[in-house]
Amino acid sequence: MKNYLFVLGRNFELSRAELVPFCEEVFSDREKGLFIAKNLRFENPRELPKTPEQIFLDRMGGVIRFGEVLGEFFSKKELLDTMLNLLKKEEKNKIGFSVIGAGKKLFPEIFQGIRDYAREKDTKIRIENSKGENMTSGQIFDRKLLQKGMEFIIWKRGNSFLLARTVANQNLRNYTLRDRRKVFRDSKMGMLPPKLGQIMINLANPSFEETVIDPFCGSGTVNIEAAVTGYKTIGSDINPEFVEGAIKNFEQMAQKFRYEVEGGVFETKDAKKIDWKDQSGVICTEGFLGENFDSNHRVTPREIANEERKVLDIWIKIFENLGVSQIRKVVFCLPCWNFRGKKHSIAEKLFAKIPKNFYIPQALFARQKTFIYERDKTFVGREICVMERK
Ligand SMILES: C[S@@+](CC[C@H](N)C(=O)[O-])C[C@H]1O[C@@H](n2cnc3c(N)ncnc32)[C@H](O)[C@@H]1O
Repeated sequence: MKNYLFVLGRNFELSRAELVPFCEEVFSDREKGLFIAKNLRFENPRELPKTPEQIFLDRMGGVIRFGEVLGEFFSKKELLDTMLNLLKKEEKNKIGFSVIGAGKKLFPEIFQGIRDYAREKDTKIRIENSKGENMTSGQIFDRKLLQKGMEFIIWKRGNSFLLARTVANQNLRNYTLRDRRKVFRDSKMGMLPPKLGQIMINLANPSFEETVIDPFCGSGTVNIEAAVTGYKTIGSDINPEFVEGAIKNFEQMAQKFRYEVEGGVFETKDAKKIDWKDQSGVICTEGFLGENFDSNHRVTPREIANEERKVLDIWIKIFENLGVSQIRKVVFCLPCWNFRGKKHSIAEKLFAKIPKNFYIPQALFARQKTFIYERDKTFVGREICVMERK
């Protein structure tokens, strides 16, 4: 059975929690950001003409790239021979590497081995990172290295080398397209990064029969990510302008990513008043994160308390209303303020108020119930919560 080596993004526990439902974990190293797994759940609901590995990766917001493990070697010669044999067998002449855990010392030795081999066989092999830096996803993508050559990930572990051949790589251009190139954008609203939208959907792990619902859809990020993966989706928001914008974005991306526009339904609605009776599927939403304070404004404890109350009121009401539904999971964000040198989280306050007979928080992040996602110490972080129906 094949093992795969995953290179994860910055938020290790979040990326790991995202992957776990889709494979069987073999080993992980938090510090190095690496994760080994087998039994990957390959699915292709939209019948896309891509490799199963690339389709797997395209839906994972927290995976940078992954490779098939070729073996564990105890000598550099064996390591080098394995790579060269593959190059020869597939008649490729472009090669790149990423080395983890061995510093830069390993590069010159491998490069020399490749050059010696090329001279001996009187052939040309182009080393893509001959300056001795690890390959980036962007370079692998731009140089079409997975199609026209090979990229290897070498992980030095103690006295051995684990060798993996990269089989799928993040497509950064698609993320930029779905993020910064949306026709409708509103910077004050605070849009969700598409990768985080994907992660939240994967945390809910819906089947393809289930609908992905975002009752605070804003510009439609979650709905677009759901449709790109192959889910039907419903978006609603209290602000009709945003709903119109979300529809425009959804249509624009339907053209670019070739999903069916009919797979998305959008409405203007107050999330507190939604009638969930007979509704099924999963809710994945960034939710309302409170007032967007001006950066020059000195926020007071009273103002924070006020925002806290608004957000809690909304979610308590939603969870009360969800009692009649068949909604299986609710993945959402709560604001977590970085206020006067401390994190002001409201997750436990909310959990204490949700009727336990319906939804309970899942502890998916290294046994923690929530994960705080934030960039560069912003004033409001997103505290990701996953609630499961009992
Ligand atoms: C942080 S934004 C969501 C942004 C969205 N995830 C995106 O990527 O574009 C929060 C959204 O919640 C909406 N909202 C606030 N209160 C609401 C309510 N009671 N019901 C429905 N939507 C609400 C706002 O209009 C806003 O669009």
